[in-house]
Amino acid sequence: QKTPVTVLVTGAAGQIGYALVPMVARGLMLGPDQPVILHMLDILPNAEALNGVKMELVDAAFSLLKGVVATTDVVEACTGVNIAVMIGGFPRKEGMERKDVMSKNVSIYKAQASALEKYAAPNCKVLVVANPANTNAVILKEFAPSIPAKNITCLTRLDHNRALAQIAERLNVHVGDVKNVIIWGNHSSTQYPDVNHATVVTKDGEKQVRELVTDHQWLYGEFITAVQQRGAEIIKARKLSSALSAASSACDHMRDWVLGTSKGTWVSMGVYSDGSYGVPAGLIYSFPVTCDKGGWSILQGLKIDDFSRAKLDATATELVEEKSFAYSCLQ
Ligand code: NAI
Repeated sequence: QKTPVTVLVTGAAGQIGYALVPMVARGLMLGPDQPVILHMLDILPNAEALNGVKMELVDAAFSLLKGVVATTDVVEACTGVNIAVMIGGFPRKEGMERKDVMSKNVSIYKAQASALEKYAAPNCKVLVVANPANTNAVILKEFAPSIPAKNITCLTRLDHNRALAQIAERLNVHVGDVKNVIIWGNHSSTQYPDVNHATVVTKDGEKQVRELVTDHQWLYGEFITAVQQRGAEIIKARKLSSALSAASSACDHMRDWVLGTSKGTWVSMGVYSDGSYGVPAGLIYSFPVTCDKGGWSILQGLKIDDFSRAKLDATATELVEEKSFAYSCLQ
């Protein structure tokens, strides 16, 4: 049997955490033959709830789950981890200033980065989910300098999956037959869901989404807004944010990163920009990527029209501003 992989989930007593840990323990993140050890971190006020999650994991008798640690100690949580899924963070509450929320998250990500830097296993792969996801990942990178930049990513796969689902619904096809949408930029309402290179498998072969959806006013208007606003729509309906779909997409993100994307398919990941597509280097920006042997590369050579160019730039501008705001919050 394979050696277990240690997976850290921060904010594990929260909504996404509660949905995610059983998925990891069932092999949905790392494959059905990969044993795992779960390290779950939360803060002191949630220690009892976290322990309840641990009890449930034990009771579920998962055959792949070789150990569970539930702790409020960052060092214990980070020790020896191969994969870190960072869901814990400080949510924006009514009446709070943007600066206060950013300061809180900056200090959380600074502290947790330092712990990962010191105690995680070499080559630890990091996925930041907590908002502001791209910028929390930038801070984490800053304070974990020995973790390669290529190992620090943020989640935009949920937005990617939402885009696939919107197209599938519109064309009345199965979501599995739609591929190669792209989410560019920030996991925020400035993200750009791009369908210019997306295709659908039909009985007459692969077709461009742009040809199949003839209503371009919808495709370059309502569709984009629907994906950007889907999170808010779910909060309105559930009175809670999207947890099941976020957890499932976090599994998709890690699984594709570790096990590879299939030939001819790319996915969206928030990754360290090397300046590709004119995006400022040093941002964590969502790009189309292909994955192989535990690594990712930004898909090169896509044609970017003027409409897309403006949208890529607008979300980059927001990220540049968010990054400098975050640095200004560092004490
Ligand atoms: P939640 O509030 O239910 O859970 C967050 C958990 O984090 C809580 O248990 C809290 O005690 C814990 N926490 C707070 N500070 C911590 C710290 N310093 N260390 C460890 N744990 C800490 O929130 P939910 O719904 O699970 O969402 C989590 C985050 O994910 C939020 O920031 C949310 O905005 C973000 N999100 C991101 C998505 C994406 O696609 N990137 C999609 C949906 C949510």
